Amino acid sequence: MTGAFEYRGGALHCEQVNLAEVAGRAGTPCYVYSAAALRRAFRLFEERLAGAPHLVCFAVKANGNLAVLRLLAEAGAGFDIVSGGELFRVLKAGADPEKVVFSGVGKTPEEIEAALQAGIHSFNCESEAELLLLSSLAQRMGRTARAAIRVNPDVDAATHPYISTGLKRHKFGIDIAGAEDLYARAAALPGLALEGASCHIGSQLLDVAPLIEAAERMGALVERLRARGIGLRFLDLGGGLGVPYRKEDPWPDVTRYLAAVRGIAERLHVELLLEPGRFIAGPAGVLLSRVLYRKSGSGKEFLIVDASMTELIRPALYEAHHEMLPLRRTERGTLVADVVGPVCESSDFLAEEREIENLLPGDYLAVMTAGAYGFVMASNYNARPRPCEVLVDGATWRIVRRRECHEDLVRGEEA
Ligand code: LLP
Repeated sequence: MTGAFEYRGGALHCEQVNLAEVAGRAGTPCYVYSAAALRRAFRLFEERLAGAPHLVCFAVKANGNLAVLRLLAEAGAGFDIVSGGELFRVLKAGADPEKVVFSGVGKTPEEIEAALQAGIHSFNCESEAELLLLSSLAQRMGRTARAAIRVNPDVDAATHPYISTGLKRHKFGIDIAGAEDLYARAAALPGLALEGASCHIGSQLLDVAPLIEAAERMGALVERLRARGIGLRFLDLGGGLGVPYRKEDPWPDVTRYLAAVRGIAERLHVELLLEPGRFIAGPAGVLLSRVLYRKSGSGKEFLIVDASMTELIRPALYEAHHEMLPLRRTERGTLVADVVGPVCESSDFLAEEREIENLLPGDYLAVMTAGAYGFVMASNYNARPRPCEVLVDGATWRIVRRRECHEDLVRGEEA
């Protein structure tokens, strides 16, 4: 897992492309993704699961850019979607509908119909009411909906509370204790092929032990259901593999995780589905930004940059840490500063009290590990046009989403 972002002669490169050139020509703020890094991370799953029936469904919520989705679809990926909008995106990107799974706690009838129409792989249902709705819509459309029940295995993901989902008190899934009875009731519903079980306990797990614990509990559930005459054919273990955001963070032990979940699926003779998002897209992307101003407050130093919480909300929302690197190394040493954006909120920071390169106005920096939950969570707050996105492939790069303009900001509005 070597990084796609490296210095060559003092200049930060993405693959063979000098990022200062991209920043200068495409402007900042700007997201840049490495095609090689995306392919490499996806291939890791494929290699470890080769020979076992499986489907790796990239979680579109992590990065929904059409070029990223197309690249992954061409590499053989399926997709995990959570809305009609994400269904639209994956179909537009050329995804095979039979490789699409639909997760989410609040699917609307219209979204379910669109997914039935497209002929997706399966629905991960999160309540009895949703199963009933799916059954009736499928029947009316003369279709059979493949479905899994999303079970809450009650495993503590021990990650940030906002991205932890696998405990009883969370809104997600059906309590594992009541799951068997629900399977028994739902198995008879017309229009439904209740063939799977799914779970997702949280995101950004650097320790794979809770993921494996959840997988084992799900495996035991599949066995208990079999004993009751309910035979499942697939097991969807969700996403959750973390990535190192800090230099000192470890990579999660993917080898151990994939060997364990593969073992469970093979023992049960079920197809294994996984929904990684962050692990595939996170390290493959950076956010480029330019220093606008420097200012010193009472004992504090501020670097005011042109990227903000509207481009990358993770620091403001989760106090997330992202490394920052200069696009050109300087000989000026380092300083300790708050790196902040132009948005009128005190929470608008990208880093606080951070030792970084002594950058001056006009210098560029890269916010690292920003390929997942970056652009997708961008907003137009403060009437800020959303940034452009660039895809690098080898020595070439292209803009895969143009920067929004002011007209984009008022599209659909009437004065
Ligand atoms: N499957 C389901 C059902 C999910 O809810 C999620 C993420 C995934 C898969 C993908 O998880 P991953 O492999 O990326 O961990 N905005 C937050 C992350 C929210 C994750 C929500 N669900 C962040 O920036 O950290």
